Amino acid sequence: MHLNLLSVFVALFGSYRAKVDFDLVVRQQYAFPILYAADMAKRYGYKAVTIIEFGVAGGAGLMNMCEIAKRTTKATGIEFRVFGFDTGTGMPPAIDYRDLPESFQAGDFPMDQERLREALPDFAELVIGDIADTVPAFCKTLTEDAPVGFVAIDVDYYSSAKKTLEILKGAPEHYLPIVPVYLDDIGVDGSNPWTGELLAVKEFNEENALRKIAPFTLLRSQRIFKNTQWIDRMFAAHIHDHALRSPENKREPQRSLPNEYINWRSKDTADAS
Ligand SMILES: C[S@@+](CC[C@H](N)C(=O)[O-])C[C@H]1O[C@@H](n2cnc3c(N)ncnc32)[C@H](O)[C@@H]1O
Repeated sequence: MHLNLLSVFVALFGSYRAKVDFDLVVRQQYAFPILYAADMAKRYGYKAVTIIEFGVAGGAGLMNMCEIAKRTTKATGIEFRVFGFDTGTGMPPAIDYRDLPESFQAGDFPMDQERLREALPDFAELVIGDIADTVPAFCKTLTEDAPVGFVAIDVDYYSSAKKTLEILKGAPEHYLPIVPVYLDDIGVDGSNPWTGELLAVKEFNEENALRKIAPFTLLRSQRIFKNTQWIDRMFAAHIHDHALRSPENKREPQRSLPNEYINWRSKDTADAS
């Protein structure tokens, strides 16, 4: 009750960051990871980040992602390149039970390509074609100037999700060290580790020694509103071979933990206060 009252105050007067914390931005599942990516990019000295929606359909999600990117740039100074991947003609045929055909079928979710292209801002692009063909070509265009910082997967099928994850197999410098991955379709009743996006993730983890996708660490305990479904759908790709995750990467300043029981602080900590 008190949090709902506080939300009204945040909605009226809060900063963008406070609105993300209170789940007041439409599509919290995009607002949180995009701000997370911007914060990480800033910490490591990047100026721009690439964010991707796999499965665009009518484009409401992609346009929302663009709006959130704009607001995040205003709040953090980090610029975004936004890409939306889709056949442009709706769902392809399902391969078998693993694609959850009881929920999704060929031809679902068409797109008006022309109108959507016109409506997109100039930092966003549609990549039309089967993901099996478009992702390998797109991977070759990634650069370390704008590493991949967030991937939203909303392609419904196991077979399509498996192909989207190819995006996470490139050179380590083409990613932030931790990339939030949103799995939209793990909420349908037929989803389990042997079907749909969860099966694609399981196989990705089995096939890649230094890249692992896992539920986003301690996300529920960090959120103010803990019962929203997007928390369960938020995963992270860990780029374990990223240079920033190597012991060779030295950080300044050196960390130390004071001990109040013997009234001890390291010399640096004491000098600073
Ligand atoms: C549920 S819709 C996406 C909805 C959208 N993210 C939104 O929030 O409005 C799923 C989309 O995935 C696309 N898709 C599925 N498999 C694909 C594949 N192999 N290649 C390209 N697009 C695919 C379909 O064309 C469909 O438009």
